[in-house]
Amino acid sequence: MAASASSLLAAAASSSCAAISSRLPAGAPAAASVPSASRHSCASLRASPARRHRSRFIASVAPTMQPPAESRVSTVVDVDLGDRSYPIYIGAGLLDEPDLLQRHVHGKRVLVVTNTTVAPLYLEKVTWALTHNNPNVSVESVILPDGEKYKDMDTLMKVFDKAVESRLDRRCTFVALGGGVIGDMCGFAAAAFLRGVNFIQIPTTLMAQVDSSVGGKTGINHPLGKNLIGAFYQPQCVLIDTDTLNTLPDRELASGIAEVVKYGLIRDAPFFEWQEKNMSALLAREPSALAYAIKRSCENKAEVVAQDEKESGLRATLNLGHTFGHAIETGIGYGAWLHGEAVAAGTVMAADMSHRLGWIDESIRKRVVDILEQAKLPITPPETMTVEKFKSIMAVDKKVADGLLRLILLKGPLGSCVFTGEYDRKALDETLHAFSNN
Ligand SMILES: NC(=O)c1ccc[n+]([C@@H]2O[C@H](COP(=O)([O-])OP(=O)(O)OC[C@H]3O[C@@H](n4cnc5c(N)ncnc54)[C@H](O)[C@@H]3O)[C@@H](O)[C@H]2O)c1
Repeated sequence: MAASASSLLAAAASSSCAAISSRLPAGAPAAASVPSASRHSCASLRASPARRHRSRFIASVAPTMQPPAESRVSTVVDVDLGDRSYPIYIGAGLLDEPDLLQRHVHGKRVLVVTNTTVAPLYLEKVTWALTHNNPNVSVESVILPDGEKYKDMDTLMKVFDKAVESRLDRRCTFVALGGGVIGDMCGFAAAAFLRGVNFIQIPTTLMAQVDSSVGGKTGINHPLGKNLIGAFYQPQCVLIDTDTLNTLPDRELASGIAEVVKYGLIRDAPFFEWQEKNMSALLAREPSALAYAIKRSCENKAEVVAQDEKESGLRATLNLGHTFGHAIETGIGYGAWLHGEAVAAGTVMAADMSHRLGWIDESIRKRVVDILEQAKLPITPPETMTVEKFKSIMAVDKKVADGLLRLILLKGPLGSCVFTGEYDRKALDETLHAFSNN
């Protein structure tokens, strides 16, 4: 039973990879020669509609809205979930386009959820975008403390307090303005407030733009484990203004790159090869390289989510390196390492274990280490993570079912993986011992 499920997943992963390959030009595009749609999307940041790129996966019954003709949106990726489909708008300067946001606001009351770092940078701009030529809409905001350690029940309650005190009703809209922590918390609050109100994602970190704002996973941490309390709840739209990355610290940028690398490894070999050639352009924030990485990541995520919204199988592959990574985040205290840093070390551990099992060549294991090193991300866990600590934390991971820990491991050529509980326990033990002090 488990064997057939994991081979099904392997097949699904490699077949979708083949589908992606067929859409990309032969060979990995260099930064200066990204595929034509992407070149337009980022080189001319004020893209004309004729040049706009739109990605859609699987025929939809509910087409999502087109941006206006003169819009700066250079790419739209549709997340195809039938009548809950929504667009991801990608481009520079999108917060200067009030219509993009306003068309997705339901009702007359908006609650912007943000934090003490992002509010001084973008709250005024977002409030303007929501209210410009739109006197009927009133905007409240709640400014949360900044940090992973505040992704908890107490801080979540501040969102509910504000919503209740402001007497918001079912026709209100919550707007998440910030990184993955704000997006996950605001989304969960929107899912629970009055049993569900509309919500919009405005991600402002690379991590949130390439991953967390897309796909509807929302939630908070429990002291014993990451993201253990949450809900699947999809936004009305995701608005990615790539200009917001201009204020993001380098360390946060690198953290987001860990998730970009993940898409290449699990399902998109040409994208991984492109990253190998363009990592320095990404770290230097070359607009064309960043825009391509965001677009391709969102396309990969949208394709997976459209096939498996609630993570019954395929979607789990997006967690490559996360089981080890979440153990690191929990083990050393939330916020001590950034999420992408923990995922990077976890990805190296997953590649090591895959190699011990004989599932990938040494050359692939080495390429995983090299690309993450190139991205200036950690490739080993912190010293305080002992084997026992890993084991005890991994025992409460969400992917434990019937007492069996299932893992996402690389298997086969670059760009393929499996989600499985069928592996030799010895390999897991060896990997933990190789990367931990005792
Ligand atoms: N829901 C999902 O599918 C999913 C996927 C991946 C990660 N996550 C979650 O996302 C979180 C990590 O997200 P993150 O890396 O964005 O962390 P984060 O939200 O903590 O943001 C990182 C830091 O950057 C600051 N910041 C945000 N935007 C900025 C900007 N434009 N300029 C300057 N500073 C800015 C934030 O205030 C914070 O200090 C974790 O909790 C992780 O579990 C969720």
